[in-house]
Amino acid sequence: MNTNLSSSVPSQLETDCLVVVVLDQSEKDQSKKDKPAVTVESSDAAVREAAKDVISSGEVTGKTFETTLLHRPAGLKAKRLLLVGGGKAKTFSAAELRKLAGAAVRTLKSKSIRSFAFVFPETAVPASEGVPAIVEGAFVGNFDPGYYKSDRNEKDQKIDALTIVVHGDAHDAKDMESAMQAGRIVAESQNFTRDLVNEPSNRMTPTIMAERAKKMAAEVGLNCETYGADKIKQLKMGAFWGVAQGSDEPPALIVLRYDPVGAADKIHLGLVGKAVTFDTGGISIKPADGMEKMKYDMAGGATMIGVMRAIALLKLKVKVTAIICATENMPSGKAQKPGDVQIAMSGKSIEIINTDAEGRLVLADGLCYARQLGCTHLVDAATLTGAVVVALGYVNAGIFASDEQMYERFANANKQAGEKMWRLPLDDEYKENLKSNIADMVNAGSRWGGAIFAAMFLKEFAEDTPWIHLDIAGTAWMEEAKPWIAKGPSGIALRSLVEFVKGWES
Ligand code: BES
Ligand code: MN
Ligand code: ZN
Repeated sequence: MNTNLSSSVPSQLETDCLVVVVLDQSEKDQSKKDKPAVTVESSDAAVREAAKDVISSGEVTGKTFETTLLHRPAGLKAKRLLLVGGGKAKTFSAAELRKLAGAAVRTLKSKSIRSFAFVFPETAVPASEGVPAIVEGAFVGNFDPGYYKSDRNEKDQKIDALTIVVHGDAHDAKDMESAMQAGRIVAESQNFTRDLVNEPSNRMTPTIMAERAKKMAAEVGLNCETYGADKIKQLKMGAFWGVAQGSDEPPALIVLRYDPVGAADKIHLGLVGKAVTFDTGGISIKPADGMEKMKYDMAGGATMIGVMRAIALLKLKVKVTAIICATENMPSGKAQKPGDVQIAMSGKSIEIINTDAEGRLVLADGLCYARQLGCTHLVDAATLTGAVVVALGYVNAGIFASDEQMYERFANANKQAGEKMWRLPLDDEYKENLKSNIADMVNAGSRWGGAIFAAMFLKEFAEDTPWIHLDIAGTAWMEEAKPWIAKGPSGIALRSLVEFVKGWES
């Protein structure tokens, strides 16, 4: 999708469709009807005039994602005018704007429209935040998961060109342009991650994932090394290998390094991702119902690869290393069995109670390796537990943090990125559940508080390094399409992580 900025007067712009935000100005206790309840967010009187009749008819309420399409709007050069509701004016922010841009794209592309102009809602959001938000939302909305559909009419239903109309000369054109390009980098990285996650397991094996990471790294100038079973065994990654040993498909340890000049030498961020390219559960096999979804069990790893792409292209001045542990989790004659004991890279012994609790095993060694490489702060992302879906549903991802300062930084980044996440606890009391009769710990315990148990397990391997764990099991895959995003891979956590890395620039 081409993106460009225009400072034209919206009514004078020739476009297939002009998109304008409408907001609901009413407040609950407002009885007086002296001011209009719905406002059109454009300083161009001709645009407001074109929308006047349909608004006074009462058809337009400004409700979030409500769309109203007018053809041949009077007084405008645009062929169509699309009004998109942004909800209550009081609570409108860049996060809403991002979703509206996605909703506009999804509404228009389904009508075979290929280009449009989005009028920037000047009074509602500052342009420095709003312009990248529109670009991000538009790219995310343009993503089409129907890769293997052979019907041409179902495919390629995408928007080709987006113009953002930022009126007047109040804004520095150069700043706007670079804000737009930054939004584009982040959004394309998010879609890059979604591309990886969308692929089925026969087309996204650990080996293929490593190749994709290598190819991307070469394109953006990152250092990428990928290793196989030999190196995993040589590093004594017994927990990672315990999972990988059951599969005929070789595992991959993917290491992406970004060490720019000008980065503070005391800070070295480590991003660790779970990339189980298919999780059958292993010998503790999962029920058949819904098992096909376990192709997205590599979303954490795919997220970290996408984050590395974004930070390299944004040229952020922070040293970052990503470690992606890619493997299948299969039942076979070579597979690990319940009761087996594995020795992790850190030297800790683990009794395998349930072979389906494999994500924490691969991450245990990934976290340990990140520490060995000198990372001073760790973040992992993983589709780790069904229990986080029980706790938070499909709405919020789970955040766990061992360090308050690091949490504050992440929470700020997360807010800026407009992604829904919620913190869960890591009290010492939960540690009781890790106890094993035969080894240092078990890999699975009681079903109560399962997401917390998994996080407590990981904490044993992050040790005293400040660490954040993101459980994205319920949020990495959209179970339903939303107005702003298709059903399928969401790319959750990427934007928050890019913002988080940005926050460490000195
Ligand atoms: N990959 C699953 C978690 C998952 C569940 C991801 C639903 C996406 C959607 C993970 O490896 C797993 O199987 N976890 C088990 C752990 C249990 C055996 C302790 C779970 O949550 O049931
Ligand atoms: Mn599992
Ligand atoms: Zn899994």
